Amino acid sequence: MIIVPGINSQELAYRVSKLIGCKLLRTEFKRFPDGELYIRVLDNEAIKDEDVIFIQSQRNQNDAVVESILMSDILRDEGAKSITLVAPYLAYTRQDKKFNPGEPISIRVLAKVYSQLFDKVITINPHETHIKSFFEVPFICGSAVKELARYVKDKLNNPVVLSPDTGAVELAREAAEVINCEYDYLEKTRISPTEIRIAPKNLDVKNREVLIVDDIVSTGGTVATATKMLMEQGADKVMVACVHPVLIGDALNKLYTSGVSEVIGTDTFPSPVSKVSVDKVIVELIEK
Ligand code: R5P
Repeated sequence: MIIVPGINSQELAYRVSKLIGCKLLRTEFKRFPDGELYIRVLDNEAIKDEDVIFIQSQRNQNDAVVESILMSDILRDEGAKSITLVAPYLAYTRQDKKFNPGEPISIRVLAKVYSQLFDKVITINPHETHIKSFFEVPFICGSAVKELARYVKDKLNNPVVLSPDTGAVELAREAAEVINCEYDYLEKTRISPTEIRIAPKNLDVKNREVLIVDDIVSTGGTVATATKMLMEQGADKVMVACVHPVLIGDALNKLYTSGVSEVIGTDTFPSPVSKVSVDKVIVELIEK
């Protein structure tokens, strides 16, 4: 087995290669003056007859998709025995259905492309798991929530874990199991045309320390609004753990000024809050 890093995942690819004890190939990435990508595997003679794992986080969505397509061509041409795409953050998963007529199902068409080019696709906490049905090759999903929960476990007193909505309640359950505490989801209630209340469906947060768990924190709007309301309801502290810290623009500032005491993310792609590595989760999924 050999590991090939994508431009976004050089550190993660190194960590995975060390854990597995296999060779990490040298690659070259450039951009042509007109913006097109150029990639090259420098250790190309090492590819023949190997099971190749290409690790490429897709945070810079469009470039990462093109890089993955180009890389599959190199690896197939150089005689790889099998090619696995490991996309710790898989792009376009949020357009997993038509929300309006005339839209594409973006991840469905990309799944079709990946199924032609790769023998297996691995990812971590995709936004929706039903996207598995779009793939014609094995599509393996893991979760990094337990790793996040282990990291925060000793930082919380009298904790409760909350998900921002019902969709992520399974992530809250997973974290609560590690922390050994209660969990719930936040419910939005419209009080008047201009007023909403966000509160846990069943639990009271008064004098408790809260961990909000979500798959993605993007603009930070969801969690910042929830945090303000939880503090008003008497929570002692609010921490945030997310698998994919997309954190667009001033998202981190928005979170801290809303009252969040700490934001913890993983290294599905590098970010200022990537304090927990998904390296071991990826190794488990590769070895499955
Ligand atoms: C939504 O279903 C996701 O799980 C996240 O809650 C959402 O993407 C967060 O977005 P934002 O940070 O922009 O509020």
